[in-house]
Amino acid sequence: MVMPTTDALSIQNLSVNFGNKTALRDISLDIHKGELLGIIGPTTSGKTTFLTVLNRMIDTLPDAKVRGRIRMGDLNLLATQQVQSVRRRVGMIFALPVALPLTIRGNVEYGPRRSGVRDPGILDVLVEDSLKAAGLWEEVETRLDSPALKLSGGQQQRLCIARALALKPEVLLLDEPCSGLDPLSTARVEDTLIALRGDVTIVLVTNNPYQASRVADRTAFFLGGELVELNDTKALFTLPKDERTQAYIEGKFG
Ligand SMILES: Nc1ncnc2c1ncn2[C@@H]1O[C@H](COP(=O)(O)OP(=O)(O)O)[C@@H](O)[C@H]1O
Ligand SMILES: [Mg+2]
Repeated sequence: MVMPTTDALSIQNLSVNFGNKTALRDISLDIHKGELLGIIGPTTSGKTTFLTVLNRMIDTLPDAKVRGRIRMGDLNLLATQQVQSVRRRVGMIFALPVALPLTIRGNVEYGPRRSGVRDPGILDVLVEDSLKAAGLWEEVETRLDSPALKLSGGQQQRLCIARALALKPEVLLLDEPCSGLDPLSTARVEDTLIALRGDVTIVLVTNNPYQASRVADRTAFFLGGELVELNDTKALFTLPKDERTQAYIEGKFG
């Protein structure tokens, strides 16, 4: 009998080079279904590159060379020609919220409309469900038709999460999503991610190790393109196995 996999993504021996520069070196890890995986590490440790491989955004960088295997269910993620399908299944949120110059509703409907959904009833349900899941509904339900760009930065970041969720992704990648936000807005985004975990697999890259320690189920420490250590978040922060992990979480570099 074939057992159903409990991994959303299984990454084996992933390496990425830009010209003769190595951005990721022989990364192997499994990302469990429904977990919130935190990725920490100083700048240039390969965190962003790792995310761009997972939804094939890396294809848009001409001199990138990717080796290794990534399995998503039955799909050979690095080999498939169905790149748009990968990007729908694996959504990405960037550091700076980029709300579209549309209404709040228009932002959330954008992806589904582009993939052919036209039924107003279905779109209404998608808008409400996505905004609720992103923890933004109560703040915007009375002004869905006002411009999204009038929202605060933190609200725009949650709107970006709602926009990604409207496409019903299996995995959500976030690259330092709170780096431009104040502490209160950061807390709202963190609450949103905690509530989403379980339904969606979340990979959260953060330049703030404390953020991973607050929200992540497991945390991976990247350094110089290598995966130094991966463990349950509490264990990684209280009993790091590698002295480089210890030095980083004690704030000695990065
Ligand atoms: N498009 C690119 N072209 C050339 N080098 C790149 C490119 N993107 C990333 N790199 C290099 O890969 C390494 C890892 O970068 P990155 O993944 O952005 O790290 P992080 O997100 O941890 O700061 C860095 O040395 C960076 O200079
Ligand atoms: Mg980065």
